[in-house]
Amino acid sequence: MIDPSNTPLSIEKSATSKIVNVDFENLTFGRTFTDHMFVCDYADGAWQEPKIMPYQAMTLEPSARVFHYGQAVFEGMKAFKDAAGKIWLFRPEDNQERINKSSARLAMPAFPKEYFFKGLETLLKMDAAWIQPGVGNSLYLRPFVIATEPAISASPANTYRFMIICSPAKAYYSGKVRVLFAEKYSRSANGGVGFAKAAGNYAAQFYPTALAQEKGYQQIIWTDASTHEFLEEAGTMNIFFRINDTLVTAPISDRILDGITRRSILQLAEDNGIAVDVKRVPVSEIKEAARNGSLKEIFGAGTAAVVSPISAFEHGNEVFEIPENDRSFAAMFKKQLQEIQHNISEDKHGWRHEVK
Ligand code: COI
Repeated sequence: MIDPSNTPLSIEKSATSKIVNVDFENLTFGRTFTDHMFVCDYADGAWQEPKIMPYQAMTLEPSARVFHYGQAVFEGMKAFKDAAGKIWLFRPEDNQERINKSSARLAMPAFPKEYFFKGLETLLKMDAAWIQPGVGNSLYLRPFVIATEPAISASPANTYRFMIICSPAKAYYSGKVRVLFAEKYSRSANGGVGFAKAAGNYAAQFYPTALAQEKGYQQIIWTDASTHEFLEEAGTMNIFFRINDTLVTAPISDRILDGITRRSILQLAEDNGIAVDVKRVPVSEIKEAARNGSLKEIFGAGTAAVVSPISAFEHGNEVFEIPENDRSFAAMFKKQLQEIQHNISEDKHGWRHEVK
């Protein structure tokens, strides 16, 4: 078995760069990929020698288990470049820990921390030109693990592939986000995989989200599967409600992703002296607050989405428009987060990690 603390990493550099063809001002999220990718295979009970190689298509057998049983997990992270050209990650250890928690739930092997960081940091240094400076720009990083073993029996694989691919990104949502509160479909259930970044969690949302989009809503805010009475998360984001000046959000559970942006906002709220109520959030309470004017904001928080204000919601065939707030918490949290991420403001919680 390879000793992760002395990780060998084989590197094959791309002969040419695709960067000359990229219009960084007009990026569609997740469509453009950098020159290189990180790959490490698991076989014979161990992670094999990791590699960085040119970004390229790969061959898998049609019987690879990932295609049949969705044994796949992923992470979402971002790298930032400051005005001096230094590269920063934001709370990367949290992502490294979370991908292994997701893997454990899907009966997949943990990926060693040393491999994760060596692969990620080497990749970022090789593709550094793809990280554009300036608030609002980032390189979105997508670590993921798939079951590669060719076998269609429904059981965990014996071979896996861990990879990291990188995509320059601007905002995930542009413009106002209107949401539907879920009344029929569910994203996750007690004892399920809702807390994990399991690929299937996302696929399961596509159909109901497409129905919501036909009605003019970008996203669904999922409610608890048993009663549909409590608001949970949005699938691409955790959700916060501002009732008067109190920030309200659902507690994490086995149904809700333990979002790193969510965690950071809760800390920033404390730093800013904002009252926080982490509690189950009844749909009825939010509707009542919208009616009596105490609902000041709803916003989503996630790595890709950063902080995205929600301008309206529908539930029970009633549409509630949320008036714009010129002293919005969402705008303040977004600014504070981005200034920490881009090495503009003090990092008093040690969230920044420099890639040297
Ligand atoms: C992220 O925010 O990084 C996610 O994984 C959400 C995804 C839908 C882009």
